[in-house]
Amino acid sequence: MTDTFKAVQITDHVHWVGAIDWDVRDFHGYLTQRGSTYNAYLIMGERPTLVDTVKAEFFDEMLSRIRSVVDPKTIEVLISNHAEMDHSGALPRTIEQIQPKEVYASKAGVQALEDHFHMGGGIQAVADGQTLSLGELNLTFVETRMCHWPDSMVSYLAEDHILFSQDGFGMHLASAERFADEIDPSVLGHEAAKYYANILLPLSKFIVKTLDKLQMLDLPIQMLAPDHGPIYRTEKDIGWILGKYADWAAQKPTCKAVVVYDTMWQSTDKMARAIHEGLAAEGVDVRMMPARGCHRSDIATELLDAGALVMGTPTINNTMFPSVADALTYIRGLAPKNMIGAAFGSYGWSAEGAKEVHETLAGMGLEMVGEELKVKYVPDEAALARCRQLGVDIAQRLKAKVQAEVPA
Ligand code: FEO
Repeated sequence: MTDTFKAVQITDHVHWVGAIDWDVRDFHGYLTQRGSTYNAYLIMGERPTLVDTVKAEFFDEMLSRIRSVVDPKTIEVLISNHAEMDHSGALPRTIEQIQPKEVYASKAGVQALEDHFHMGGGIQAVADGQTLSLGELNLTFVETRMCHWPDSMVSYLAEDHILFSQDGFGMHLASAERFADEIDPSVLGHEAAKYYANILLPLSKFIVKTLDKLQMLDLPIQMLAPDHGPIYRTEKDIGWILGKYADWAAQKPTCKAVVVYDTMWQSTDKMARAIHEGLAAEGVDVRMMPARGCHRSDIATELLDAGALVMGTPTINNTMFPSVADALTYIRGLAPKNMIGAAFGSYGWSAEGAKEVHETLAGMGLEMVGEELKVKYVPDEAALARCRQLGVDIAQRLKAKVQAEVPA
């Protein structure tokens, strides 16, 4: 067994013993350009405790880091804050090897872990608000249902003022540095936003509840330790990420539009460019995202703080273009709220593509600007003028909506 990997002490009693996944680029459909980490935490006290594990293939790395601090067999307690396999994949082997006296998860977590690993019991449920004595240390559990899964909970170690927040406040970012204040803020901002947009956006109402719950509990948090990416240890960084989550969960529109489109013979492309002109002329911040050149998860990231989604597709074989369908299906699942929408596209002899996009966006609850704008074969000057005007119309609706949101 390798002793290559070392733990990183992060508080008086806690060591980071997770794994760095430098290689992962596809996290179930999310492009993780910068890799990820699976964070596990070792609490050293009278009763050594492991909070979360790692993806199954990183078991040896985690165990090596644990061994740099303590004989893994002395670990008495194992906590599973979240049952998804990037944190629980190594759980069965960990239990087998270290044979902890006690394993805990939330009530839903106990069931989820059984449904995953079929271990036949042995995991105990903790109640919301329950405190577990680890000897001189105390770990309190707070249920945070649907942040990310029904089983999700966070754990608070009172003596070190550290909150283990599982997926919450995390990001997919592999780095040698363990703390947020050691990382370029622009990278941090982008990856935190990308994680929220792609993982947590559809759960925003639960994020609001979790933020309210944490505020009500008024736990003095001096360190925020998620299961992915860097750990927050300064008041400034903790305040920053909590503030960002409050903003993102509110889904307030801004004067930003995302135009997602694809094209066969450049007709829909020409329409997109004319729509851009209309939007930009009205002062809207526009992101042009050709669907074949932009990953769906980057489109989702741009949408996080946008107020309008404009989608264009040619009609191919009586339906929308495959790359547009991919982006639209993904965005529909993320269920963005409080957004203006519009659809457009060129066609030859039937025009189902743009119609399908319009109907899907309307079905998602977007406030649609007019009907879909269709152009037969190739847009002429008059058609391009209509496209430009659509951009102006969207911009004006968007500006009025943003203005209406400003507190009096
Ligand atoms: Fe990082 Fe929901 O798992």
